[in-house]
Amino acid sequence: MNNNPIGVFDSGVGGISTLNELTKQFPNERFIFYGDTKNAPYGSKTPDEVFQCTQRVMDELLAQHVKAVVIACNTATSAAKPRLMQAYPETPIVGIEPALKEAIDDGSHNILVMGTQLTVHLPKFQTMMAKYQSDHNIYAVPCPGLADYVEGGMTDPAALNELLTTLLAPYLDKPIDGIVLGCTHYPFVRDAISALFKPGIPVHTGFEGVAKQLRHVLVEHDGLTAATTPGDVTWMSSEPDAVDYYQSLYDMLKK
Ligand code: SIN
Repeated sequence: MNNNPIGVFDSGVGGISTLNELTKQFPNERFIFYGDTKNAPYGSKTPDEVFQCTQRVMDELLAQHVKAVVIACNTATSAAKPRLMQAYPETPIVGIEPALKEAIDDGSHNILVMGTQLTVHLPKFQTMMAKYQSDHNIYAVPCPGLADYVEGGMTDPAALNELLTTLLAPYLDKPIDGIVLGCTHYPFVRDAISALFKPGIPVHTGFEGVAKQLRHVLVEHDGLTAATTPGDVTWMSSEPDAVDYYQSLYDMLKK
């Protein structure tokens, strides 16, 4: 048993959507969420730049004695997770990746995968896609600007709709039957994305996979909390003014 907190981080606010799921599945754990808002978005950086940013975040979280770290950012997972595991061999590290397999297991054949430029183009996702491409239509769409819209406060639905319509225009007449949100920012605009396609198309976030992996590593390290009372969330940021926005998004998800 280990009552230390679990660190969760993202380039900014996106990881709060993942954190929301984790707090449901681990109600007695304490979490520290770190948003690297000062350096967001990661999706337009090089893998080396992302690694450097994530190393700084890891150091901040480890200074708080976290017992495990969840990279609640698809871009950081794709670009930096193997190097972080090498750099911090003592710390269990869990990441998130586009839930393409989940969509395929769910029976989808025409799958839209939305992610940052880096996530979609890096070998990690390209290899995953190649595995399923022979018998599925997989449309991988880089979505520059979408994470920035979420970071920026989501104040202009018309601008969001215009951005989504532009990004997704080539796919709107395809028989899409599964949508994968391969960036943790996108669940915050999930309804606007779904509204562009026919109703009822399943949307996959990958959150359940993250929770499953986290449980696995905590059990493996005898790291689950002994607490029987509700846990809590502490907010940290490279941009301290941003934590009010973190809290408001988290409250919105908890409603
Ligand atoms: C970004 O920082 O560009 C988006 C984060 C993500 O990929 O989840």
